[in-house]
Amino acid sequence: MKVLVAGANGHTGRLLIQYLKEDGHEPYGLIRKEEQKAKIEELGGTPVLADVTQQDVGYAVKGMDAVMFAAGSGGSTGADQTEAVDRDGAINLIKATENLGIKKFIMLSSIAAGDPERGPEQLKHYLKMKGDADEYLKSTELDYTIVRPGGLTHDESSSKITVGETVEKGTISRADVAKTMIAALQEPNAYHKTFEMISGDTQIEEALKSL
Ligand SMILES: NC(=O)c1ccc[n+]([C@@H]2O[C@H](COP(=O)([O-])OP(=O)(O)OC[C@H]3O[C@@H](n4cnc5c(N)ncnc54)[C@H](OP(=O)(O)O)[C@@H]3O)[C@@H](O)[C@H]2O)c1
Repeated sequence: MKVLVAGANGHTGRLLIQYLKEDGHEPYGLIRKEEQKAKIEELGGTPVLADVTQQDVGYAVKGMDAVMFAAGSGGSTGADQTEAVDRDGAINLIKATENLGIKKFIMLSSIAAGDPERGPEQLKHYLKMKGDADEYLKSTELDYTIVRPGGLTHDESSSKITVGETVEKGTISRADVAKTMIAALQEPNAYHKTFEMISGDTQIEEALKSL
């Protein structure tokens, strides 16, 4: 499958490119800067220069079989960037995917995005923006999967997770988040599903079948 990863230069994005390639897919990495191209190529991906906030982002999506959103404004920017990237940028990319007739969209969201009141005070605005983008995705005809992980770590993959409509506060490795997003591409039971996730005891494939 040709898969576009938005946020490909990020920590999770890089793992997505690497694992997609290892799984026999053709990964395309949406990046913002020329100097990030070499890293994407080194991981086995094809770099595509774009910005999810650009109105014409469709040129990056054209020809893909699936799109993954792993971009994010990060903790060091203000509320304006959270709105521009995490909410509006995500919706912009979803709309481009819809307009091009591509069916599969995998969203990297966050635990508590469906209920920001569950999150800490300083994350409530971010969680609301993530939740709004998720709600837009749910309103489309796309075969979406919305993955809502707990705190992301740099631990090695265990390939074992706990999923649920809501799960207890916890952490999960970016490696297992990336593996779950890729497994969801080819697991029809994960289509039209939104779930929270932390590290756990169930193999990823089995967990997706249980949704
Ligand atoms: N941290 C957590 O504990 C946690 C928990 C749950 C969910 N999440 C979600 O998981 C996402 C991925 O986390 P991460 O730590 O792997 O991300 P990360 O390393 O912060 O990477 C985010 C990437 O998004 C890119 N980006 C920012 N604005 C963009 C734009 N306008 N257009 C295109 N790309 C853009 C950045 O590009 P540059 O490289 O050019 O800056 C960066 O490469 C987060 O953004 C967050 O929404 C995080």
